[in-house]
Amino acid sequence: MQTSQKLSLPIMGCGTWAWGNRLLWGYDQSMDNQLQEVFNLCLSNGVTLFDTGDSYGTGKLNGRSEQLLGQFTKAYQGANQENICIATKLAAYPWRLTRQSIVNAGRASSQRLGRDVDLVQMHWSTANYAPWQEGILLDGLADLYEEGLVKGVGLSNYGPNRLEWAHKRLAERGVPITTLQVQYSLLSTYPITELGLKQVCDDLGIRLIAYSPLSLGILTGKYSEKGKYPPGIRSFLFKELIPKAQSLLSCLQKIASYKNKTMSQVAINWCICKGTIPIPGAKSLEQAQQNIGALGWYLDAGEVEELDRIAASLEKKMVQNIFQTK
Ligand SMILES: NC(=O)c1ccc[n+]([C@@H]2O[C@H](COP(=O)([O-])OP(=O)(O)OC[C@H]3O[C@@H](n4cnc5c(N)ncnc54)[C@H](OP(=O)(O)O)[C@@H]3O)[C@@H](O)[C@H]2O)c1
Repeated sequence: MQTSQKLSLPIMGCGTWAWGNRLLWGYDQSMDNQLQEVFNLCLSNGVTLFDTGDSYGTGKLNGRSEQLLGQFTKAYQGANQENICIATKLAAYPWRLTRQSIVNAGRASSQRLGRDVDLVQMHWSTANYAPWQEGILLDGLADLYEEGLVKGVGLSNYGPNRLEWAHKRLAERGVPITTLQVQYSLLSTYPITELGLKQVCDDLGIRLIAYSPLSLGILTGKYSEKGKYPPGIRSFLFKELIPKAQSLLSCLQKIASYKNKTMSQVAINWCICKGTIPIPGAKSLEQAQQNIGALGWYLDAGEVEELDRIAASLEKKMVQNIFQTK
């Protein structure tokens, strides 16, 4: 049975990678009430897309982000309830070797969520190290769609060549690709400027989702050479990047002051101006509130151009996801 329900995508979504990841993000369960409030606030403001993954949650908290989203969805009573779009990503684990294993993974995500997955995405392409596995995984995604278990199929970390290959394979079964998500921000322009993904997505009718649009927090301006760096793995990366991103951070600050916005709002709005759907991750109500303030206005063309020019001039950019293909 092929699904006839249509997915409706907002212009901005909310990421939930931090919801369950203790090692990388310092998540602990005392944050859950606050996260429910983040969810409620987003939804009541029309941010209806929530991105998660079956690998979001470390150690015993495996799958925690999906579980929380399920809980939050059930508890929510308010505006836009009917438009909730839960997008999960199924990991291309090396032990997922049959299409049935992907169907089972999709069912396990639904079980953790306590509801259907709306958009199921392949978390990454195996093209760089096990290309033979990939067709099988995509067939599993198509099975989920054909069985009516999901409303849409998406991909993640695919470059244009691999995207066209996957598009053809799914199109042979009449399964459309709804979305592609890649790491895209002012510090990670590579997917569009070098890979040309926006054009390919437009040609194929695929919506581009920008993940890590705040460059893991660098573009918020709250971390600096003189001030504090975040604890954990991010600090290594930030110590490398922030000193070399000063011209960009100053420009963001200048535009933010002029427009009476925050740096985060300008960085997210830039992604929207580029025709992508940013999914900033928010860990607190204050962060969510601020990120929602990226909606309802636009940078002007001159501001976008200035940011583009400075972003292009930086000698150091955010490292690309190791699974990103060409
Ligand atoms: N497909 C993939 O392979 C992939 C990979 C990565 C992410 N993603 C998706 O993209 C989503 C977002 O990416 P991300 O979380 O990696 O990076 P991000 O959105 O660029 O940064 C999120 C982090 O920035 C800080 N922050 C957010 N809003 C803020 C604000 N207004 N003011 C100050 N600080 C703020 C928070 O961390 P602190 O408060 O700790 O600084 C937050 O956890 C993830 O949740 C996930 O759904 C997908």
